[in-house]
Amino acid sequence: MTISTHLTWPNRDQLLVARGETEYAWVDPAEQCLLGLEVTDVAVRGEDGPTGTVVCGDGLDALDALAARGSLRQNSIRCVYIDPPFGTGKRFGHYSDALAESTWLSMMRDRLSALRPYLADDASVWVHLDETMSHKARLILDEVFGADAYVATVVWQKRLTVESRTAISFAHDPILVYAPSGQKAWKRTRNRVPGGVEASNRDGDPRGPWRDAPFTAPGFRAGQQYVITNPAGHELRPPRGRSWFATEPTFRRLLDEDRIWWTKGGSGQPRMKNFDIDALQVPSTLWNGREVGTNDDAKRHLANLFPDSGTVFDTPKPEALLQRILHISTNPGDLVVDIFGGSGTTAAVAHKMGRQWITSERLVETVSSVLLPRLETVVSGSDTGGISESVAWSGGGAFEVLQVAPRLGNVPELCSRLSTRRGALLAG
Ligand SMILES: C[S@@+](CC[C@H](N)C(=O)[O-])C[C@H]1O[C@@H](n2cnc3c(N)ncnc32)[C@H](O)[C@@H]1O
Repeated sequence: MTISTHLTWPNRDQLLVARGETEYAWVDPAEQCLLGLEVTDVAVRGEDGPTGTVVCGDGLDALDALAARGSLRQNSIRCVYIDPPFGTGKRFGHYSDALAESTWLSMMRDRLSALRPYLADDASVWVHLDETMSHKARLILDEVFGADAYVATVVWQKRLTVESRTAISFAHDPILVYAPSGQKAWKRTRNRVPGGVEASNRDGDPRGPWRDAPFTAPGFRAGQQYVITNPAGHELRPPRGRSWFATEPTFRRLLDEDRIWWTKGGSGQPRMKNFDIDALQVPSTLWNGREVGTNDDAKRHLANLFPDSGTVFDTPKPEALLQRILHISTNPGDLVVDIFGGSGTTAAVAHKMGRQWITSERLVETVSSVLLPRLETVVSGSDTGGISESVAWSGGGAFEVLQVAPRLGNVPELCSRLSTRRGALLAG
């Protein structure tokens, strides 16, 4: 793969591995094979056999440990969604987002590179960031997957209100979408989405509401170059380099069937009336918070799930957002991976949508106080919020929980802290 431009930063040639629960260390990539990974404390929650795996540990360690254990195979992941710390320099209640820039860049590159061998041919990778580092992350993603793998940047409306303390209020997050097979190949297997422009009935058609679409098609096709006269008497030809959507006899039939709509009250262009209002559409890049949820919706969902806790988690994402991503990128039974688990939104949505899933989260406290209890409510069916109603979720399935000790600083007390908390949870 030829890369004409790439980012450079201090220690770029080193590998960044986790040390302890919160730190990182640079190591020579040639030495990494000397670093052992220890998987301990395996437990299964639920009854029907695992469809999911929670790894308490760093994402890179989790991938290596699962592969060594045979639970993660090459060419098996259909969708990666990650929502890592954004590189903002802030400290949130539940985790720190204050890595030095060079550390953040290596952290991202090394974890994205580690995911690559496990991606299926028709996989996609969705990287959720804000504007702080998304431009630099794109160069890293280009380097890891190839610039041709870039599909789009989804603009997710994360808030409906205005942040009055800023010069210009950030109302969105960018989500970078890559498909290692290239967007043309991926388009063949990704799913379309319902919705789009609301159907309406502008001419009181007895057949009901309809949407309109242009009556033109790209390219020059000799059989689709003819003159159409609109109701105002103007003679129209297809725009340069395009053709009419259908041949003249088909146009005449559509006109007889009252399936042509004229713009500008009859003095404009012909458009087709489409009565199949449930038709699926190509996903677009603009995602409205009223349709796929906002940050506030995500926080409300967690607050309802755990009414006795204070702020359950600082930066959860709404389930409907993940539902749309997983709908586009996967089918039931496919494997979804999120190595920056947080409160477990990706795992919860994947579980409710019948996908297999793997998630990892580095902080024991987050795993034990939010992620595991949340996934337990999913399995038990007591989580009635998020997308539960839209997918008729009533519980079921199971997941396993593993602890991966960090490569550097094998800290046994992490395991015992998790076990103690889990014991308390089960007892409660
Ligand atoms: C923005 S939050 C993810 C929120 C999640 N999408 C949700 O809906 O709840 C990022 C999470 O990644 C975790 N994290 C940071 N570095 C990590 C690493 N190297 N491996 C695994 N988890 C990590 C943080 O502790 C934090 O919980």
